Amino acid sequence: MSQSSIIPVRPEIAEKAWLDEAGYHKLYQQSVADPEGFWAEQGKRIHWFKPYSQVKDVSFAPEDVHIRWFHDGTTNASYNCTDRHLATKKDDTAIIWEGDDPSEHKHISYGELHEEVCRLANAMKANGVKKGDRVTIYLPMIPEAAYAMLACARIGAIHSVVFGGFSPDALAGRIQDCESAFVITADEGVRGGRKIPLKANTDKALASCPNVQKVLVVRRTGGRIEWSEGRDLWYHEECAKVSDDCPAEEMNAEDPLFILYTSGSTGKPKGVLHTTGGYLVYAAMTHQYVFDYHDGEIYWCTADVGWVTGHSYIVYGPLANGATTLMFEGVPNYPDASRFWQVCDKHKVSIFYTAPTAIRALMREGEAPVKRTKRDSLRILGTVGEPINPEAWLWYHRVVGDERCPIVDTWWQTETGGILISPLPGAIDTKPGSATLPFFGVKPVIVDADGKHLEGACEGNLCIADSWPGQMRTVFGDHERFVQTYFSAYPGRYFSGDGCRRDEDGYYWITGRVDDVINVSGHRMGTAEVESALVAHAKVAEAAVVGYPHDIKGQGIYAYVTLVAGEEPSEELRKELVQWVRKEIGPIASPDLIQWAPGLPKTRSGKIMRRILRKIAENDYGNLGDTSTLADPGVVDDLVGNRMNRS
Ligand code: WT7
Repeated sequence: MSQSSIIPVRPEIAEKAWLDEAGYHKLYQQSVADPEGFWAEQGKRIHWFKPYSQVKDVSFAPEDVHIRWFHDGTTNASYNCTDRHLATKKDDTAIIWEGDDPSEHKHISYGELHEEVCRLANAMKANGVKKGDRVTIYLPMIPEAAYAMLACARIGAIHSVVFGGFSPDALAGRIQDCESAFVITADEGVRGGRKIPLKANTDKALASCPNVQKVLVVRRTGGRIEWSEGRDLWYHEECAKVSDDCPAEEMNAEDPLFILYTSGSTGKPKGVLHTTGGYLVYAAMTHQYVFDYHDGEIYWCTADVGWVTGHSYIVYGPLANGATTLMFEGVPNYPDASRFWQVCDKHKVSIFYTAPTAIRALMREGEAPVKRTKRDSLRILGTVGEPINPEAWLWYHRVVGDERCPIVDTWWQTETGGILISPLPGAIDTKPGSATLPFFGVKPVIVDADGKHLEGACEGNLCIADSWPGQMRTVFGDHERFVQTYFSAYPGRYFSGDGCRRDEDGYYWITGRVDDVINVSGHRMGTAEVESALVAHAKVAEAAVVGYPHDIKGQGIYAYVTLVAGEEPSEELRKELVQWVRKEIGPIASPDLIQWAPGLPKTRSGKIMRRILRKIAENDYGNLGDTSTLADPGVVDDLVGNRMNRS
């Protein structure tokens, strides 16, 4: 795709938009020239119990990394997402819930949301949850997931939402790491017509979590579940016992709001910690500008609340802005491949935000499922989670948006709390495949391997030169790991882990991860995690995992496995190992391809040369590079000779 293909801003979008092109550039200049002044003003978009006088207190210096915003102000995220709207929007819809089954949906008004959140907050308090406690939320996409997050925020408990697709082991690891004593789950989830045994998974996880005192269970399906008397409580029973009045706790701007576990290049997932004031200001502001959100519009982000996208752009950003946010329990292809667009028509969605992997999967079904819907309420389309290939971008634009709707390709990360690089619909001309230009206050820099800032058109590693309010503050319980991961490679800058190109117009093109993190269907996975799951199997001696290009998923998981002496490779064992990884981590970590490797390419000091394994997985043998430093160059020939066919 040539980068000269430009889709200009449409006049009718610019006319209605918060900002036009000149407006963007002016505000951006202000935001980087005077961050203190800019954010002092922007901070006012949320309600503060006690206004801040301090705006920014930040150091990226490795010996003293600290990040504080608005740090003498007090506020409450739940208050901002509910109470604050009662005067003007009590009867307006806060959440539209669309069930997995198309016959099920409901509207929850701001008044109802407030009541639900207050009741749950009181029920949690009555069961011993206090400010600062960690609460693990393992729920399907039902309104109770949003209630639970906001109820935690209301009483100052720190939520840790664990994606419902994670296995009992993965759930247990996350409960243990943050020492949660309280878990909120459901009997079962429902997705694509299939049941997900969330309570049974929780029971299994809790066998290794002796600290958990209470499990609050939402009745979603009424399916049969085990019950642990004294520990398990029905959500609806506990909420019925308490009052619907629960004043929001006064929180310091820097009090933690949530932990969200995400994969890194080494070790187990880390607990990304976000705090209250700066996060909320940033989520709300980006939601307004990037999606050009106007009062009364119906906004739909298809992510799961188990990921940061769901936190910032289903719950906190939209609700802080008093928006109507749609929450979808199901999947794109159930009952059929036109479900997304049917839901858009049914609820008159005007802003739609999804992942490239979903677009590619639907693209494969052809245009008919899209074209038999109207989609005339749609105004803005967004993508997130992985690089979008220009073909998918153009299909989304032409087929879904009828060439009428601007596309915002939003680049950000769990760590960044909100969108950092993205077009603004009325202001920035787009180029298919480019996330375009930085959001207000964001200073991207591209550095080479030595940390030298590259100027003009260039390609290298993407860093951010200064803080923004939504930035993560630390790794829960391990500040050293925070410093090590993000501030040690290029001192004085935040390192994203992504590669990036900047073109001659100053547009940014994210090229993907440059570390041992892979992005499978927009889900982030550490290769080390999959490897440790594999080697935990009794028949596996060694494993190395890399990503390879996959038509739908973006990247697939390619595992090289060396069996222990005496074990023979077989189709059966291959299947067993795939099941094993699913059990250890969850279905999203299933290896797509497993190659039996009698040996792995290692340096003489024993380090696995992943570069070579990546090339083989990518079918790029011409380019294996220098193999002379290998302890046994012969293993490469064997691996090349026995490579797996890619899908
Ligand atoms: C990684 C972060 C941000 C919420 C969802 C994922 C990749 C994300 C884009 C984009 C190219 C993207 C990056 C990033 N990524 N958005 N628009 N274009 N790549 O959050 O799980 O923390 O993953 O997703 O590689 O580092 P996450």
